[in-house]
Amino acid sequence: QTGLITLDLGYKNTGATVSEITYLDGDQGELYYRGYPIEQIAEKSNFTEVMYLLLHGELPTEDQLNTFNGNIKKYNFVAEEMKKIIDAFPRSAHPMGVLSTLTSALTAFNPKSVNVQSKEEMDLAAELLIAKFAHLAAWTYRKTLGLPLNHGDNSLDYVENFYKMAFRLPNEEFVINPVVTAALNKLLILHADHEQNCSTSTVRMVGSAHTGLFASVSAGISALWGPLHGGANQAVIEMLELIEKDGGDVNKWVAKAKDKNDSFRLMGFGHRVYKNFDPRAKIIKKAADDLLAALGIEDKALDIAMQLEKVALEDEYFIERKLYPNVDFYSGIIYRALGIPTEMFTVMFALGRLPGWIAQWKEMRMTGDPIGRPRQVYQGAQKRDYIDIANR
Ligand code: SDX
Repeated sequence: QTGLITLDLGYKNTGATVSEITYLDGDQGELYYRGYPIEQIAEKSNFTEVMYLLLHGELPTEDQLNTFNGNIKKYNFVAEEMKKIIDAFPRSAHPMGVLSTLTSALTAFNPKSVNVQSKEEMDLAAELLIAKFAHLAAWTYRKTLGLPLNHGDNSLDYVENFYKMAFRLPNEEFVINPVVTAALNKLLILHADHEQNCSTSTVRMVGSAHTGLFASVSAGISALWGPLHGGANQAVIEMLELIEKDGGDVNKWVAKAKDKNDSFRLMGFGHRVYKNFDPRAKIIKKAADDLLAALGIEDKALDIAMQLEKVALEDEYFIERKLYPNVDFYSGIIYRALGIPTEMFTVMFALGRLPGWIAQWKEMRMTGDPIGRPRQVYQGAQKRDYIDIANR
């Protein structure tokens, strides 16, 4: 309160830019990538095709997709010196902090990716980053286990290649499970872009100073790390495990989430824009059911999640505030079924969101958005004269 007006602080309803990439209707719970409904894209497309769609605006022809995949395969390696950077981290370092560092460090090995002006130069920087990011994301996991850092396998597609780099054990034959890579494709597609969310706005803000693509995305990774944003998928599973350990009384935890004197929030619930079901949550929930059934996995966390959802959706407090499950509520259950550890969940979100960050950075540069420089409401001290220390 400033006496006259109530300040609703923060970037909440700011029309920060004009974009043609993603449209979402928070009241209707609708999400379109370049005009295509997310339900159709998730069902019929694959992650590299969605990357092309977000970056170039149209679904690719067979030739265009083959050329795109071929370009990415051309750069499917990372400079050996990058391993020295990752070696400097303790195994306990959070993968998101490692990923943000490595992504920015990529600039040093690809200096031409910085001062890009033309669409062709931006597309080259994009394909370089897409190819090398899969290594960095996989390596952050290998680092936590002290496993050797693998280079890519061009006989595989993008998602299979990432999965093999991340999870191939040195002493075992690696078998690609199509059920697993289909679930991964769907998850990565569902995370690919989401208009001007916190991390994408960060990438645009940093990029508006004409900072290079890799360093701009590195800033977006740091924003995504936060538990109110991408870090929520890790926080959801930790919450479900806590509730299970505590005896599984979901009513008790829903009451805690409503208690203003309790800082506990129902992680994976609520959204700044969706005041209806997050369409991605619906798709992921079904994919979780299908995957667990296909792999014959019983996951208590899924049962608790569904009980939580049921109780919360019938509760006045959540109904009044239009709080529904968001993209992060069920995604952790799939990652866990795929053998991906909790601390890697947000890295998976970053891998999914990579094409969105790049497409939004490219759009911002191509349309010539000015350097970001918001204003403020000043409420500090009025003008006054300096006081010597002896007189303070
Ligand atoms: C993502 O923006 C995007 O598009 C993000 C994302 C993407 O794809 O990029 O969709 C990904 O970040 C999804 C959100 C993941 N975060 C979480 O699940 C964390 C838990 N959710 C909340 O922290 C919260 O709902 C936010 C941060 C997601 C949204 O915050 P808002 O819109 O600023 O809501 P708010 O904090 O103003 O809360 C409004 C009311 C408050 O109560 P009152 O003050 O009105 O009494 O709702 C309450 C809040 O206390 N509330 C919750 C709650 N979320 C909001 N109460 C309990 N549990 C919750 N999860």
